[in-house]
Amino acid sequence: MSITWTIVLLLITIYSNTVSSKESELLSVTVLFRHGFRTPRFLYKNDPYKQEASKIWPEGFGELTNIGKREAFALGQWYREKYRSFIPEKYNSNFLRVLSSDKDRCLMSAACSLAGLYPPKKEQIWNENLQWQPIPIHTRPVSIDGMVAADDRHCKKYDRLYQELMKSENSINFFKSKSSIFEYVSNHTGESKRTFLDITNFHDTLFIEQNYNLTLPNWTKKVFPHKTLPLLTMRYAFDSKTVELGRLKSGLLLDYITTFFEDVLQKPATSQKFLMISTHDSTIARFLNILGAYDYTWPEYASTLVFELRRKGNNDFLKIYFKDSKKIRDIKLPRCSLDCNFDDFKNITKNFRINDEEWVKECSSD
Ligand SMILES: *[C@@H]1O[C@H](CO)[C@@H](O)[C@H](O)[C@H]1NC(C)=O
Ligand SMILES: *[C@@H]1O[C@H](CO)[C@@H](O)[C@H](O)[C@H]1NC(C)=O
Ligand SMILES: *[C@@H]1O[C@H](CO)[C@@H](O)[C@H](O)[C@H]1NC(C)=O
Ligand SMILES: *[C@@H]1O[C@H](CO)[C@@H](O)[C@H](O)[C@H]1NC(C)=O
Repeated sequence: MSITWTIVLLLITIYSNTVSSKESELLSVTVLFRHGFRTPRFLYKNDPYKQEASKIWPEGFGELTNIGKREAFALGQWYREKYRSFIPEKYNSNFLRVLSSDKDRCLMSAACSLAGLYPPKKEQIWNENLQWQPIPIHTRPVSIDGMVAADDRHCKKYDRLYQELMKSENSINFFKSKSSIFEYVSNHTGESKRTFLDITNFHDTLFIEQNYNLTLPNWTKKVFPHKTLPLLTMRYAFDSKTVELGRLKSGLLLDYITTFFEDVLQKPATSQKFLMISTHDSTIARFLNILGAYDYTWPEYASTLVFELRRKGNNDFLKIYFKDSKKIRDIKLPRCSLDCNFDDFKNITKNFRINDEEWVKECSSD
């Protein structure tokens, strides 16, 4: 092929790609995001910073910090920039719905990101000295949530299935192969560390202390972060390792988001178009896992998983991506194309989808 022809073909390819991405119409967006940088939730028994804790972390345990507030605010500004032509400049409750986990750090992160996204405009300015307007954030107590913060709503069946998973030969062998890590951490922290959750909490505390520029004890170097982080990220895969576990842990959220998009398609005149969900690393990691797209990275503070519902001709499809401070990566479902037809998406994920009524029925007995 001649050079000229190659160039012509190249130009045609570039042109058609540009046109095709422009041609699709953005109908609706759902974002899930992790709260910003927070204080540790626990200190271990031998933690050298126990005495000074209230000085180092005056906010209290598990609370959003000023760094975290700035991260969430910047994320809101990023949504504004990215979706300038989709999200109207003025806040309107007919367009936006905001959900949050009932944990303080998530509620506060939701408030900060909304401050970045919706500074008041014109007649919405109600105080000349304040570039802020109130925007409703909806939540449910964690004991009855099961969706945005999924861990504190009790499900007997889930607990039984999880125990069975932990007693399986594979799990037992896995924990055996890691027993020296558990033993080492137990010995040094002065606390028995036996489960994924124990190691997750331990890693999380050290990670935050490190980010506070506190010197970690020398003994931690043997396991942190190279041995503890893989256990943390693996925990979320175990939480939704089977279809049943995934359905009971992440299915309510899947159902909520899918229903939100169905409403956009079926009742375009009256449905809200933008759904924001302020949540936890666990919720995001497990959701990626049921989509078959979890790459075992720990969702960092103020990272976000985004679902765009788009239309091109008669094809309604989802474009999914994940953004953190380092990069944006496209999320491709294993059995779907990158632009995943919405009906195909529903078909692929249908075994995980569960509504509240079904969940209550399944969870009430083991
Ligand atoms: C933990 O402590 C026990 C008792 O002192 C000791 O026998 C064992 O070798 C220690 N294990 C590790 C992994 O450090
Ligand atoms: C730790 O030090 C870095 C670099 O000086 C600084 O940017 C960061 O804010 C410090 N962390 C905290 C929590 O103060
Ligand atoms: C920790 O290790 C460093 C160098 O490896 C050493 O200089 C320091 O004294 C050690 N600290 C303690 C408390 O053992
Ligand atoms: C749903 O997925 C299954 C399995 O991949 C496939 O066999 C079936 O044809 C799909 N159904 C629809 C309606 O797309």
